[in-house]
Amino acid sequence: MPLDTALSTDVRGLPLSGINDDQVQIYDALLTDIYHYVPGTAGLLETLLEDAPEFVLGHVLRGYSVMTDGFKSGEGAARGHLQRAKTLISGATEREKLHVTALENWINGNFAGRNGAWEEIISQWPRDLLAYRQLTGTLFWSGDKKRQLTAALQTLQHWSPEVAGYGLVLGPMAFALEEAGHYAKAEAYAKDALDINPTDLWSLHALAHVFEMQGRVKEGEARIEEVQDRLNDFNLFRGHIWWHLALFKMAQGKLDGALALVDKQIYPNSSTFYLDIQNAASALSRLEFQGVDVGDRWNRISEASEKTLGDHNILFTVPHQAMALARTSDEASLNRALQTWAAGSDDSTESRLAAKAAEAMAKFQSKNYAQALEILYPIRFELAALGASHAQQDIYFQYMVMAASELSEFSKVRNLLRERIAARFETEDDFAKIKAKMTAIDSVSTKSDAAALLRGVL
Ligand SMILES: [Fe+2]
Repeated sequence: MPLDTALSTDVRGLPLSGINDDQVQIYDALLTDIYHYVPGTAGLLETLLEDAPEFVLGHVLRGYSVMTDGFKSGEGAARGHLQRAKTLISGATEREKLHVTALENWINGNFAGRNGAWEEIISQWPRDLLAYRQLTGTLFWSGDKKRQLTAALQTLQHWSPEVAGYGLVLGPMAFALEEAGHYAKAEAYAKDALDINPTDLWSLHALAHVFEMQGRVKEGEARIEEVQDRLNDFNLFRGHIWWHLALFKMAQGKLDGALALVDKQIYPNSSTFYLDIQNAASALSRLEFQGVDVGDRWNRISEASEKTLGDHNILFTVPHQAMALARTSDEASLNRALQTWAAGSDDSTESRLAAKAAEAMAKFQSKNYAQALEILYPIRFELAALGASHAQQDIYFQYMVMAASELSEFSKVRNLLRERIAARFETEDDFAKIKAKMTAIDSVSTKSDAAALLRGVL
């Protein structure tokens, strides 16, 4: 491990250039706040950089923050932060240079190069929290679940409860384990992190996923409600925790409660933030499938989607925007949106998949259920490349099941319902739930039978 004794070091002993010991303390606290989803960190970073204009990693972090917002229109600003970092590169450490490379590759759309730089950092400096959280966070949106787990496994062994920020390493570990189906281990890591900080939202989120996948919906609801009075102290990520609470309520048939959460917490404003659009559109679709009249609630999502058409980098957002636009827009606007997505910003597989999923949503809404199914069914497993969790990706299956139900193709409905749960067990208890659900699936013969089984996973 390279050492540079002339530089100040962060709380984990990693050298930082362009910053003094007092400023390092501000940086350490800032990094902790960022990964605890504390609002207002952008302003604090700006102030820190005014005081420490040669702080290389600070400029990189500003670039990362802009890129994390997920808008193509933010790339110009991110490039500005990159240029500033590059002017300081001659005095930077090898680790900092790799961060600059990661940012440059990210802005240029070279995701393999970006991930490779972060992986190199955590390989050489496994206590680099910034690289670890950026890597595991962005792999979430490319569907690289195994790679996420690998990164967590290789990193965790270099940490211990005595190392500052230990809890922040556990959350991504718990989440990666959960997505790999290792629910018991995921639960243990998430609970360890929550013992350190009861409002560590990423760990609470991993725990919510465990409850969702194992059908422990009452526990999930209770766990989130325990902290609900504090949730709105956090930044916009909180909306996704509210979304999980809505799912737990829906699974118990508490549909009014879930709808109230959409209004008050999940989408209270016309937000263009990608996660807000995903959460709201997904929740409203699921509620409609349960027979709820959601009124004019699609309008604001549609307006926000139109405003940011073609601007979202996180392509899992696209089918959700399509859900909203297909319900509210005139034909010309909808076609313009579909053309924008079909043209894409590149000819990548992900852009092609996002455009197809969007088209399927539009077909579904115009009651062309056969065409919606024709588009989605052959690509249903490829769609994982658009990222997101298994719980979020379930929306594709919900649309397919409802389309096949509308067509009275109940053999296909049953097959889709089986596929949706087949791999989701770990314990004997899970297995018993799967068997019971498989038996229920065997007798599905109406649209309402199918909708009832879509409420929860298990
Ligand atoms: Fe989630």
